[in-house]
Amino acid sequence: MRICLKTASLGLLLALAPLPPASAQLALPTGDVNRGRSFALQACSVCHVVAPEQLVLRRIARQPSFSAIANAEGMNGMKLQAILTTPHPIMPNLILTPEEAANVIAYIMSLRGR
Ligand code: HEC
Repeated sequence: MRICLKTASLGLLLALAPLPPASAQLALPTGDVNRGRSFALQACSVCHVVAPEQLVLRRIARQPSFSAIANAEGMNGMKLQAILTTPHPIMPNLILTPEEAANVIAYIMSLRGR
């Protein structure tokens, strides 16, 4: 619960004061961007374009890419937290530990503005 609240307030902070990606990473101390990225490459890349180098999937994917999700209007850590703690389309059993969620949220939000 502590992580949820932290992420929520940081998300709000990001929404109020958009920062360049480098500072945005610093602003999310609860999640580790690099660990979130490698986790996402394992757990999410079957369906999503998680990183720009996934050229093949980019051509056929119907799911939003992580950079599209990150750059959706009004996206922030709090919204991602809500999305990731409710059943996922096609994959209702996608359950992340709070740490995995925090890392993956940090990674997705690091793609904002790119
Ligand atoms: C089995 C396929 C599949 C996997 C695996 C998957 N997703 Fe998704 N995800 C989807 C689909 C399909 C949508 C789009 C639903 C829509 O457009 O309404 C989606 C949408 C999303 C959204 C945006 C939802 C919104 O309301 O904007 C987020 C965030 C997301 N996924 C995160 C993740 C993360 C993080 C992982 C890995 C931990 C993951 N997904 C793994 C299929 C998947």
